[in-house]
Amino acid sequence: MLQALTLSGSVRFDSQNALLARAMGKKLALVGAEGNNIDLVDYELALFNADLERSGDQPENAIKLAHLFAKADIIFIASPEYNGSISPLLKNTIDWISRQKVAPFHRAIFGIGAASPGKMGGVSGLKHLRDILTSVGGLVAPTSLGIGNSSNILDKTGLLMEDNTNKRADNLVTQLISISRNP
Ligand SMILES: Cc1cc2nc3c(=O)[nH]c(=O)nc-3n(C[C@H](O)[C@H](O)[C@H](O)COP(=O)(O)O)c2cc1C
Repeated sequence: MLQALTLSGSVRFDSQNALLARAMGKKLALVGAEGNNIDLVDYELALFNADLERSGDQPENAIKLAHLFAKADIIFIASPEYNGSISPLLKNTIDWISRQKVAPFHRAIFGIGAASPGKMGGVSGLKHLRDILTSVGGLVAPTSLGIGNSSNILDKTGLLMEDNTNKRADNLVTQLISISRNP
């Protein structure tokens, strides 16, 4: 069975992106992937500074996250847009994971999405996220899922309340499953 990992680059209470990550986790589970939706609040990491690596020891949470990434077939990241880019939390998390030895970015196919109250649906930030994941060796699905006006679309139980958004999300799920089965 395919292993799917879903996460949000925001740990804010009421985060729209946490709802998006949960919604995509549910959709992936419906097509037979085994889902693991994690909350980065449970994997706290210091702001990366190479001096922190000097002792040779890596933080336990970076190691745990790297192992979760390394064993997943599909990783969906819901990425809040901050000033046209990704959140500092998500960048810091990726930077720490990239320092681990278990090839964390080489197995999974990545799906990326963003939920934003703005009209553009966080798509500028998604371009940056695509570049960053590509630069660490990740394969990112061609479709990305920007959801504007998101508070009217994302439901607290993890459903997408609009037909067109549901269709786009389902297309991304189909792409993720198909690429992970035929890499
Ligand atoms: C520092 C900061 C910068 C932001 N910049 C953008 C932006 O460039 N584009 C956008 O659509 N929304 C922007 N927003 C609004 C966020 O997209 C919005 O707060 C969103 O709900 C954050 O995601 P979350 O609900 O998952 O925490 C910004 C918010 C913050 C705090």
